[in-house]
Amino acid sequence: MKFFVDTADINDIKDLAATGLLDGVTTNPSLVAKSGRNFVELIKEICTVVDGPVSAEVASVDYETMLEEGKYLATLAPNVAVKVPLTEAGLKVCKYLSGKGTMVNVTLCFSSAQALLAAKAGATFVSPFVGRLDDIGQDGMGLIEEICHMYQAQPDLKTQVLVASVRHPRHVVDAAKMGAHVATCPPAIIRQLFGHPLTDKGLAQFVADWAKTGQKILK
Ligand code: E4P
Repeated sequence: MKFFVDTADINDIKDLAATGLLDGVTTNPSLVAKSGRNFVELIKEICTVVDGPVSAEVASVDYETMLEEGKYLATLAPNVAVKVPLTEAGLKVCKYLSGKGTMVNVTLCFSSAQALLAAKAGATFVSPFVGRLDDIGQDGMGLIEEICHMYQAQPDLKTQVLVASVRHPRHVVDAAKMGAHVATCPPAIIRQLFGHPLTDKGLAQFVADWAKTGQKILK
């Protein structure tokens, strides 16, 4: 499974890219607003740091403007994935851009029916939001499971399931077990994936015991 980071913070992106474990980046208008950065400059910079897909979201909701924005965003770098909302207009834009060879991430997906339409529209990625479904008492991971099964049953559909709105490491592990292709996580969740209290405790013990030997591995 691929790991994308869900942020517009360039320092977090650089830091996580340095691990060699980062496969891509997703941004959205809320994250860009939080960064305080110029959107176009930010996307260009992220694309120089990360080789994998970098999602850049259109801002308009009508078909014509969304299409022009999408075409422009696609010129910023070869690894831009144009992000469009899962609306009728968004899927029309998806169909057009994917037909021209542009990567498209269809976002704000909350149902399997929507995911089916995104795949038919040629989406590279569909982004079901698990945390926001959990927040309203629905089953976010249940949706991922159903979409994964549905896509597996229709081998002509090539869209990758990009698990979004991830709230904790369990979401990531369950997504991997279900066969989702990508999880996009806030930086803090990716850092949480590395850790376990018993790793910290065990390492402290090893460091202390090693000191007692008085030895060094490197001369
Ligand atoms: C996905 O691309 C979205 O940017 C993101 O995962 C939304 O997550 P949120 O529900 O935490 O805002």
